[in-house]
Amino acid sequence: MTFTVAISGKGGTGKTMLAALLVIYLLRKTNSELKILVVDADPNQNLDKVLGAKVDKTVGDLREELLNIKDKIPSGISKKQYFEYMIRNIVYEGEYFDLLAMGRPEGPGCYCYVNHLLRMILDKISEEYDVVIMDTEAGLEHLSRRTTRDVDALIIITDPTSRGIITAERIRKLVQELETKVHKIYAVGNRVTSSVSKKIEEELVRRGFEVLGLIPEDPYIQELDLEGKPFTEIPDNSPAYKAIESIADKLFSHIINTA
Ligand SMILES: Nc1ncnc2c1ncn2[C@@H]1O[C@H](COP(=O)(O)OP(=O)(O)O)[C@@H](O)[C@H]1O
Ligand SMILES: [Mg+2]
Repeated sequence: MTFTVAISGKGGTGKTMLAALLVIYLLRKTNSELKILVVDADPNQNLDKVLGAKVDKTVGDLREELLNIKDKIPSGISKKQYFEYMIRNIVYEGEYFDLLAMGRPEGPGCYCYVNHLLRMILDKISEEYDVVIMDTEAGLEHLSRRTTRDVDALIIITDPTSRGIITAERIRKLVQELETKVHKIYAVGNRVTSSVSKKIEEELVRRGFEVLGLIPEDPYIQELDLEGKPFTEIPDNSPAYKAIESIADKLFSHIINTA
């Protein structure tokens, strides 16, 4: 069974940082025993860079191509087989994890047929992994268009600002209108200093969120970001990594125990 985690939240609140550090946690905790698929579902993709991977082509790019060639597929191969071959070709296959970038959702046009096939193939590919970690954006475009599979846990991240928290609530509301099923929703506070930690936790609980944890401001992250280094270089004793360890211990308890 694949365990799918999606991360959403207002822009700039730390979605990509959290997605990357959850992947790094899994690699460190399990000695890379799990099959991990990282999905970058933010059109402003940068998860590959912070994980030291490189993606050349997105599902969005491929969707455009397939729309143009869908009636000119070589004979002897079904459209589904051909599409599947093309998608597998754009998955970055790393030593420790694979990565797929969704790119832009479709523009106007008749994508129903292409999308239907893409969805089936992406579901099939996802099922080959133990864990799927997805970095999304606040609009949840890929989830709302059902271009990604159902989600076991959605983590909505917020910084300690009222705008962040209001966006978190908006996202939770949006989820209720989605066709994609989301089984569990959690909140995480990021860049939280000790003076506001109690307040933000209380505020999130008051608004009905289950708080999975709070992440402090971390100079290691700023340093890596400034130097353009991947987050895989983060030390075990970095304050943010330690907070994410405790978040991930809860989130993945059922997987880590049986891995
Ligand atoms: N806990 C933290 N401590 C220090 N810097 C952080 C922390 N969380 C995020 N950042 C920095 O804040 C910026 C935005 O984070 P990012 O993960 O890219 O946000 P998002 O993906 O939600 O737009 C990045 O430069 C990131 O390195
Ligand atoms: Mg991001």
